[in-house]
Amino acid sequence: MRLKTRAGFAGLTAGVVSVLLVGSAAAAPAPGSIGVGDPYYPHAGNGGYDVGHYDLRLSYQPSTDLLSGATTILLTATQDLSRFNLDFGLKVTSVRVNNRPAQFATSTDGTGELTVTPSTPLKKGQTATVVVAYADTPSKVKIDGFTAWKKTPDGALAVDEPQSAAWWFPSNDHPTDLATYDISVEVPNDVAALSNGTLVRKTVQRPGWTRWNWRSTKPQATYLTSLEVGKFEVNEQTTPDGKPFITAYGADLGESLGAAKASIERTPEITEFLASKFGPYPFEAQGGVATTGITFALENQTRPVYGARAFRSGSNTSVVAHEQAHQWFGDNVTLGKWSDIWLNEGFASYGEFLWSEETGEGTADELAQYIYDSAPAEDPFWQVLPADPGEANQFHAAVYDRGALAVHALRKAVGDDTFFRILQTWQQVKKSKSAVIPEFIALAEKISGKPLYDLFQTWLYTKGKPAVSPNGTPA
Ligand code: ARG
Ligand code: ZN
Repeated sequence: MRLKTRAGFAGLTAGVVSVLLVGSAAAAPAPGSIGVGDPYYPHAGNGGYDVGHYDLRLSYQPSTDLLSGATTILLTATQDLSRFNLDFGLKVTSVRVNNRPAQFATSTDGTGELTVTPSTPLKKGQTATVVVAYADTPSKVKIDGFTAWKKTPDGALAVDEPQSAAWWFPSNDHPTDLATYDISVEVPNDVAALSNGTLVRKTVQRPGWTRWNWRSTKPQATYLTSLEVGKFEVNEQTTPDGKPFITAYGADLGESLGAAKASIERTPEITEFLASKFGPYPFEAQGGVATTGITFALENQTRPVYGARAFRSGSNTSVVAHEQAHQWFGDNVTLGKWSDIWLNEGFASYGEFLWSEETGEGTADELAQYIYDSAPAEDPFWQVLPADPGEANQFHAAVYDRGALAVHALRKAVGDDTFFRILQTWQQVKKSKSAVIPEFIALAEKISGKPLYDLFQTWLYTKGKPAVSPNGTPA
């Protein structure tokens, strides 16, 4: 699906043309590709540029679901660009590139591609300031047949994986392009607008409306960038190590409110524990948002969002350990391809094992053995490969549970000291970068000095129940 720039152009004509083009001194600027070549999501991300910073300045009216304003994107061209794409589904009113009006067109095939043609082509290495102005009702906008924007009775949520950005800001929507953010959202006074990072300021510039200004100073993936508007109890606190710790609880949590607080308020303690295993916490703030508007939880950078369901039967620090483990595995180190999802979910699930060990609710050995024993060999569970589960199975239990068994198998094979050294080194060398599974395996082999090909082949890449559990117990 990926349209390569020159190859794509040549492909439209004849093979011989590409031969003629190769080596031609002044090749014409080419269009950026419509995707980065992700095996599961061919339209995700775009080619030809790299974003450094996003500045969102928006207004949102819950009663009409009208989102309007502008996003300013600071990018650098990575090739000579005649035009480039952004991933975006909302109605655009104008686009400017380097202060000049640019031509633009939104895809009509429901793929959520915004094509921008600057008045002057961009040169490789050139920076550009792209201003996209827009106004639309995101809950009515379908991309790939659905909307990830969740309208709630008193607001809305832009919280989803693998995609949520295209319903509220134009972006290079793939976890390989990380950027810093300023997110400013004006909402009516009776609701809050929550997002990532630090709450820099709340301002009032016209009666009845409050503008919430959020800032993420560490590189952040598009899908980890979130917005939650609605009636929330917002608590601004500070972690023991002096970072902003902002939590928010939906006004309609009802009987789950106590359990949600008893879990999410312990985020700094859980984070400190995980930092003792994974290395320093990578970000400048912490927090959590509990809402009835979603049924899952998501590791939004610095401030995960928890569906209230997680707290329906009492406190659940396991889910907090999972989402906080993602701050390292998923957020600090992002995915090179969506098929590498094990690098996120296997390790976040293992964060739950570690926290369980810490709280005396079961050792990693016990939890791993339980999962291994629970699914008999004929269970379809063993047919989904954690290392490439397929688009439809991206969040299958096998990615999480068998994924955690794979991590445990590594720990058992190399011993605790080496195991945690591997995880900490991974976090250092891949800080604010994307990564793919073979890179992790190579690092594990290098640090342990052990051949680990067979182990990962067994646990990640081979269908069927492995003959022995990670602890070495036969089935
Ligand atoms: N990464 C999330 C978690 O494991 C899963 C999100 C699943 N996405 C969804 N739309 N249900 O915490
Ligand atoms: Zn997860």
